[in-house]
Amino acid sequence: MKIFSGIRPSGNLHLGNYLGAMQQWIKLQNENDCVFCIVDLHAITTPYKPGELKKHILDTTAVYLAAGINPEKSVIFVQSQVKEHSELAWLLETITPMGELKRMTQFKEKSEQHKDYVNAGLLSYPVLMAADILLYKTDSVPVGKDQEQHIEFTRMIAKKFNQKFGDTFKEPASMILKEGAKIMSLTNPKKKMSKSDEPKSCIFLFDTPADITKKIMSAETDSGKEVIYNVTKKRGISNLLTIYSLLTGKTTADLEKEFKGKGYGDFKKSLAEVVVQYLEPFRRKQQEFATRESYLEEILKQGQSRAQIIAQATMQEVKQKMGLI
Ligand code: AMP
Ligand code: TRP
Repeated sequence: MKIFSGIRPSGNLHLGNYLGAMQQWIKLQNENDCVFCIVDLHAITTPYKPGELKKHILDTTAVYLAAGINPEKSVIFVQSQVKEHSELAWLLETITPMGELKRMTQFKEKSEQHKDYVNAGLLSYPVLMAADILLYKTDSVPVGKDQEQHIEFTRMIAKKFNQKFGDTFKEPASMILKEGAKIMSLTNPKKKMSKSDEPKSCIFLFDTPADITKKIMSAETDSGKEVIYNVTKKRGISNLLTIYSLLTGKTTADLEKEFKGKGYGDFKKSLAEVVVQYLEPFRRKQQEFATRESYLEEILKQGQSRAQIIAQATMQEVKQKMGLI
């Protein structure tokens, strides 16, 4: 199967990004053709600092490697370094109905969040994402739940293109985990964990052990005492149980048994230890990669060449089908 996914280099990655998307990537890479992109052109649709973008791109590359993505097997590259992404996005825009873009949940949320930055790029964001996916004739896209609508949109565009210009694109499926697809904020378990939220709501992959422990110990729960998984009545505890379960491989039922008769404090303390231990290699490898900028750049350069070969072939086909010279 051909797999494609991407993450925006817009600051530190958090446990939601890892558990919702990346953890799937690692499992997929042995048996599939995987392309993992750092989607910088998407990152600039919301406010950002030009001077920090390169650092964020290299940091995201370091996270991909620290998480276990093997650059010998999978293609790792930066979106803006393969110009076919922008080119295909423009062509796809000409068959995209405006109404479809305006109804996208992420567009509505982001334009509400950044009222003075509602740019045309933010509106056409899903078209660029469709171009990312379709360029590589992707079968499946491993992402978190919030991206499901964009994959649906991608399928709609692929179908429309194929009907209009002849069979060209595959209609990709989303690959969304049952558990972990939506990790919730630690301070407000009704909202998803998000890097644009306050720092204590998020566990970042490079947080120090002291910060991780502090954030988990003060995570919002309910006034009850029992560690029980119940998403409607005990959202906070259920979110923590999900994290615990995904990091240890124990089921939530096993965890309920393990913590029977113990309070939230004991449970949180144990979870903090699990998270600190799990993320320890991330911190270590991040420090290691931080001093090896040229190594990261070399990986990205190789990724660029490999991605370009596929992207150029698709573009040639697309242009021909659309009647362009
Ligand atoms: P982003 O940081 O928005 O570029 O997201 C990168 C990937 O992480 C996408 O596949 C998202 O669906 C996923 N993701 C982001 N936040 C969460 C979350 N709180 N829980 C699960 N997956 C998430
Ligand atoms: N839109 C995705 C997000 O916000 C990032 C993204 C861009 C992506 N292009 C993609 C994800 C292609 C999967 C496939 O998280």
